[in-house]
Amino acid sequence: MGRRSEVVMEEISQDDMVDKDVIDLTPTKKISSINELPGVGAATAEKLIAAGYDTLMAIAVSSPGEMVEIAGVSENVARKMIQASRAALDMGFMSGDEVLKKRESVEKIPTSSEELNKLMGGGFETGAITECFGEFGSGKTQIGHLLAVMVQKLDPENCAVYIDTENTFRPERIVQFAKGAGLDPETILKNVKVARAFNSDHQMLLIDKIEELIKKQGMKVKLVVIDSLTAHFRAEFIGRGTLAERQQKLNKHMHALMKLADSYNLAVYVTNQVMAKPDTFFGDPTQAIGGHIVAHASTFRIYLRKGKKGSRVAKLIDSPHLAEGEANFIVEEGGIRDFK
Ligand code: GTP
Ligand code: MG
Repeated sequence: MGRRSEVVMEEISQDDMVDKDVIDLTPTKKISSINELPGVGAATAEKLIAAGYDTLMAIAVSSPGEMVEIAGVSENVARKMIQASRAALDMGFMSGDEVLKKRESVEKIPTSSEELNKLMGGGFETGAITECFGEFGSGKTQIGHLLAVMVQKLDPENCAVYIDTENTFRPERIVQFAKGAGLDPETILKNVKVARAFNSDHQMLLIDKIEELIKKQGMKVKLVVIDSLTAHFRAEFIGRGTLAERQQKLNKHMHALMKLADSYNLAVYVTNQVMAKPDTFFGDPTQAIGGHIVAHASTFRIYLRKGKKGSRVAKLIDSPHLAEGEANFIVEEGGIRDFK
């Protein structure tokens, strides 16, 4: 009788370990790739990689259900994989002073509009994702180009990566903005690395490639522009039935971007389209694509709209520490300037 209850107790405590989301912060052996995760053999690793779950972060932020489906492992193993990934990534706590220290390393990329800079607390922050959404022609792409130049004005060693999904990258605009900022256009152009993303998977893969540029080629990437973040996702996942899948993928993408921003203290600038929101009677009847996933993952969100006399109005929403407000500017050949 006594022995039996001991056995049962042991079973329960093991189950408990697995069932509760206990994050073991002291792994016995440092895991650095998905192949080293418990229960992951060559075949499982292959399945994970094929599905795009090729980093510990991707697994750490996934759900057991996802892992069961994708890797064909049991729920028990799925949980262990996730726990081990989390432990390996040191997703633990930071003390307030450590957070403050990290904040001190934040750099700000100013634009050529004082008003917009003021709105952004000095400029576009590194270590953060700034999402800019608005209707066609509102200036989202122009700001992306301008930032690719201004990041280099901040420090000539800085490089920008431009992921172009809609074929709207124009080197001519970089040249014009460089001239406007008093910089050498040729040098500036050389330090903007452009990649066309042909579909959402390609777009996600390119994020990993950025890490290679930084690690293997030693490039000092300080800005990543994704123009547009959502166009491929929107085009590929049509219909209600695919919405959950789209959001899950977008979520993964946003996590990868945030990790990149965080690990390398670089600024991520993404553009996003809006769609008509027919059930709105008050306020602006538009809504950003990607819903809560994109909104919550973005550190700063700017809503751009066309204003009076060809001006543009940028409105800052959902900022963690800046006051909400608006900035008026105008797009010109050599940059953007305050609209008075
Ligand atoms: P979509 O990608 O279509 O959603 O739009 P967007 O928000 O990216 O718009 P974009 O940044 O491409 O802004 C286009 C606008 O910028 C044009 O309508 C012009 O008003 C302005 N613009 C672009 N190039 C120039 C230029 O060389 N000189 C001037 N003065 N304005 C320009
Ligand atoms: Mg555009």
